[in-house]
Amino acid sequence: MADYYIDINRASWDDRAPAHAASPDYAFDKFVADPEFLSEVVRFDLPLLGDVRGLHGVHLQCHIGTDTVSLARLGAAMTGLDFSGAAIAEARRLSASCGTAVEFVEADVYDAAKVLTPATFDLVFTGIGALCWLPDVRRWAEVVGALLRPGGRLFIREGHPVLWSIDERQSDQVVIGYPYFERAEPFVDEDPGTYVATDTEFTHNITHSWNHGLGEIVTAVLDAGMEVTGLSEHDSVPWDALPGQMEKGDLGEWRLSDRPWRLAHSYTSQSTKR
Ligand SMILES: C[S@@+](CC[C@H](N)C(=O)[O-])C[C@H]1O[C@@H](n2cnc3c(N)ncnc32)[C@H](O)[C@@H]1O
Repeated sequence: MADYYIDINRASWDDRAPAHAASPDYAFDKFVADPEFLSEVVRFDLPLLGDVRGLHGVHLQCHIGTDTVSLARLGAAMTGLDFSGAAIAEARRLSASCGTAVEFVEADVYDAAKVLTPATFDLVFTGIGALCWLPDVRRWAEVVGALLRPGGRLFIREGHPVLWSIDERQSDQVVIGYPYFERAEPFVDEDPGTYVATDTEFTHNITHSWNHGLGEIVTAVLDAGMEVTGLSEHDSVPWDALPGQMEKGDLGEWRLSDRPWRLAHSYTSQSTKR
């Protein structure tokens, strides 16, 4: 497959990473002020994540490293990987300034098993706006399967594919407007903004993304040599995915203001490498 989308998407993330690091929503200052501070995403994950002390973990598509640092603070020896040089620079700055050691690697996620040592990781952690940037979920699952040692586990907490099929421009009702299943052609979007509070004006605003159905994700993971050990769907998601229709609650989680039980907003899936 042509990787035409890589440069387009990377330009958008490179543009946004410094603004995200400066935004109160990613709370860099709290990580520096309090050595026990954890991101809201990881705090939400804790009941399903369990004890990660002593695990050798990798966070794929780690962005500016707030969740990666949080996992390291819980006792895992973490590596974070992302293809945005600007995001990796911010992640390294966070790790150095808050005193939590993490190794950060700049690479395309599809190259992760080439730039990291395969079959050595106890934990692959990913999600919250990660899988949607990848055209082929089966290829991604093969990379995860190659990184994990036998018995190692994959932890995904991600936006639900049903949520991603909803047309967010219809702000008075919930309307399925976009693909649910993975399709060869990308969803091409132009958005001058971002999902955190910032006054920054961005210049690279076009992105290419793809949805993957829940069955496609689970099947890809199974076919890549993992056993699915858990799948929980949640009525909340960590960003304002449907502006004008959602309310913010505990741990920075957003849910539909009107009958949130209508919609699976996000999910957590866990799998073990055979
Ligand atoms: C929404 S962020 C991830 C969110 C993360 N959970 C967080 O909030 O910190 C998506 C990240 O995926 C990265 N990304 C997108 N496509 C990628 C690819 N092909 N390889 C590696 N990283 C990629 C982007 O650079 C960005 O940092």
